[in-house]
Amino acid sequence: VTKDLHPGLDWQGGVPVATRFGDPYFSLENGLAETRHVFLQGNDLPARFRPGFHIAELGFGTGLNCLAALALWKDAGIAGPLTFTSFERFPMAAVDMARALAAFPELAPLAEPLARGLARDAARYQTPDLTLDIIPGDARDSLPAWAGQADCWFLDGFAPARNPELWEPALLAEVARHTAPEGTAATYSAAGAVRRALAEAGFEVERRPGYGRKRHMTTARLT
Ligand SMILES: C[S@@+](CC[C@H](N)C(=O)[O-])C[C@H]1O[C@@H](n2cnc3c(N)ncnc32)[C@H](O)[C@@H]1O
Repeated sequence: VTKDLHPGLDWQGGVPVATRFGDPYFSLENGLAETRHVFLQGNDLPARFRPGFHIAELGFGTGLNCLAALALWKDAGIAGPLTFTSFERFPMAAVDMARALAAFPELAPLAEPLARGLARDAARYQTPDLTLDIIPGDARDSLPAWAGQADCWFLDGFAPARNPELWEPALLAEVARHTAPEGTAATYSAAGAVRRALAEAGFEVERRPGYGRKRHMTTARLT
């Protein structure tokens, strides 16, 4: 791993913080509860799950969102694997991923095999329940070239003020272009610029109550 590709990590009470962005990978309070509120409920999951459902994400990070979605998929008992595609420029080392995910013992049966799998192959992880592709590089380059379409998106860059690349209007237009009809997106951010860019991209944008101390979050549906 070259220095340029490394996010640089600090740990705050078990939560990894990317020194390059000065921002934690997930809520310092309860990352799993925040993921469930923002990304799962925000995309009306599990109600929308059906065989072949495809989730895409900006920012794989620790894999927490992916694992929370996988746990919900398994509970829902849908036949076949969940498809999950995540765009990640600064892949985290598997040991750091495992350390971060150790905070969520209920995910351990899924997290441990994932970390082992990604230590062998950082780009693809396949089980009977999950087909995971992690697409390396800057999402601004890799998403336009992607041939897939997602039923829903987890927009999970670091805070827009610190990681503006992952919230650029041109990138959010590519998100819309890679969303199936009636597909959705959700983010913890309620920033006006993000909401406007999603609306310009063709989404119907809705403000919902945020998680914890965040008053609002954003959901979006392609119409
Ligand atoms: C808040 S973290 C994501 C947390 C993650 N979803 C999880 O479940 O742990 C933001 C992620 O976006 C990635 N990132 C930042 N800029 C990027 C870019 N231009 N292209 C792709 N990924 C990027 C960071 O490396 C980081 O992993």
